[in-house]
Amino acid sequence: MLRELLEKNRSIRSFDPTAKITNEELLDMIDCTRLCPSSANLQALKFCPVTEGDKVEKVFSATKWAGYLRDTKIPPEGCEPPAYIIVMNDTDIAKNTTPFFKDTGIVSHTILLRACEMGYGGCMIGSFDKDIIKEALSLPDNLEITLVLAIGKAKEEPVITECTGDIKYYRENGTHFVPKRSLRDIVVK
Ligand SMILES: Cc1cc2nc3c(=O)[nH]c(=O)nc-3n(C[C@H](O)[C@H](O)[C@H](O)COP(=O)(O)O)c2cc1C
Repeated sequence: MLRELLEKNRSIRSFDPTAKITNEELLDMIDCTRLCPSSANLQALKFCPVTEGDKVEKVFSATKWAGYLRDTKIPPEGCEPPAYIIVMNDTDIAKNTTPFFKDTGIVSHTILLRACEMGYGGCMIGSFDKDIIKEALSLPDNLEITLVLAIGKAKEEPVITECTGDIKYYRENGTHFVPKRSLRDIVVK
């Protein structure tokens, strides 16, 4: 079951504009992170769910998508994400944010797996303008953004392919292909 969920849980960059997602559903995903491992059990990460239209638009304006596909409009016009979860390190709990990028990866994947299980899809966005987001959401100074998670109902079904040299994802006839290295290529003997 976990294997199937992992296979289904691709990065989604086109969202169904007719399907909304509620704040309560985002809170369900955030709640799952409380069960995650945490460096020194500090649980320094905080989460800001974003579903309000004007805030969603501002966050979107601060994000960059699909760096390998600069000539394609991604997400397509009208298929932008309807919601976000902003992952942040609380520097009042952990002064140095760097170790908490590891925690960020763990909780972010947990959130996206839960989203997938709930029938949604999402994308981790590491390429963002933190100042625009901080201002748009009136975030206090002690919260340092570590990752942005876009979430909504998927309007695409990316396909995993075998990696034959180039790891760059690509699109063919509207389908997004994601090359994955083989087991043989990632195991060191
Ligand atoms: C830490 C992290 C940051 C990422 N940042 C971005 C980003 O800024 N923009 C984007 O479109 N995708 C981003 N991605 C998604 C990756 O491009 C994606 O995971 C990769 O292409 C593999 O596709 P898959 O998630 O479907 O397996 C990020 C992924 C990770 C793990």
